Amino acid sequence: MEYAVPQLTPTNVTPSQETPQPGVGKLKVYESAASVAAVTIPQAIETPRLRRQRYSKNTIRQWLESLSDPYPEQYVSFHDDNSEFDHVCAGAKHHHWWRGGMADHVKEMIGYSLDLYDLYPGDLKNIVTRDDIIIGCYLHDFAKIWMYEEITEEDRERDPKRYHNQQIFRPLYGAFDIIDEESKTLLELSRYGIVPSEMQWSSVLFAEGGYSDRNFGINGLTRVGNTVMARNPLAVIVHMADMYSSQILGRSLV
Ligand SMILES: [Fe+2]
Ligand SMILES: [Fe+2]
Repeated sequence: MEYAVPQLTPTNVTPSQETPQPGVGKLKVYESAASVAAVTIPQAIETPRLRRQRYSKNTIRQWLESLSDPYPEQYVSFHDDNSEFDHVCAGAKHHHWWRGGMADHVKEMIGYSLDLYDLYPGDLKNIVTRDDIIIGCYLHDFAKIWMYEEITEEDRERDPKRYHNQQIFRPLYGAFDIIDEESKTLLELSRYGIVPSEMQWSSVLFAEGGYSDRNFGINGLTRVGNTVMARNPLAVIVHMADMYSSQILGRSLV
């Protein structure tokens, strides 16, 4: 989707001379004057700090190419060799169900997260890097490349009521009978010499927030599930982006 920046006339304001009375809790009043230019939201979007990445047309491959050291080439080869990533859906019905749905989902997440990063640099810079965001979002649902297959005409004829009219993919059972999704992704990464950082991998394990498998152990909640969101800002960002993209932008069929 193309985003056109609306052209608006700037409003000029300057702080008034009125000094708030101490202890009265009065809000500072601003009045019109020519000395200070207030920036409107559309103008702010035009400034580099606030350019909205959510509307960027970068492909997943381009985001990976833009990683800084140590792994851009490894990630690009990993992506090229797993071309299903650009084909598969992110969900059979609930969100991003179309061909290329998962790539769209991840692009939205990267864009949304980088927007937050630019909007609130004081919160996130020096704590989380741009690479962390791209890698956390890229890997968080990677295992879906092994999780879905396209519905065939025969499948539909055999059981017409089973699938939604527009549905293209269905879950493929048996892909994780002996190892779980995230272990499989980590093993694949290791074949390319890629070692995600603890913060990055934690954001993958807990991208689903309270719904993440890793929250639950045999005795109830796991210890890491209790602390992860307080200790790993990247997990918070990836989870927020996952929710925003899947639940608000995801266009569910049901
Ligand atoms: Fe997910
Ligand atoms: Fe997701």
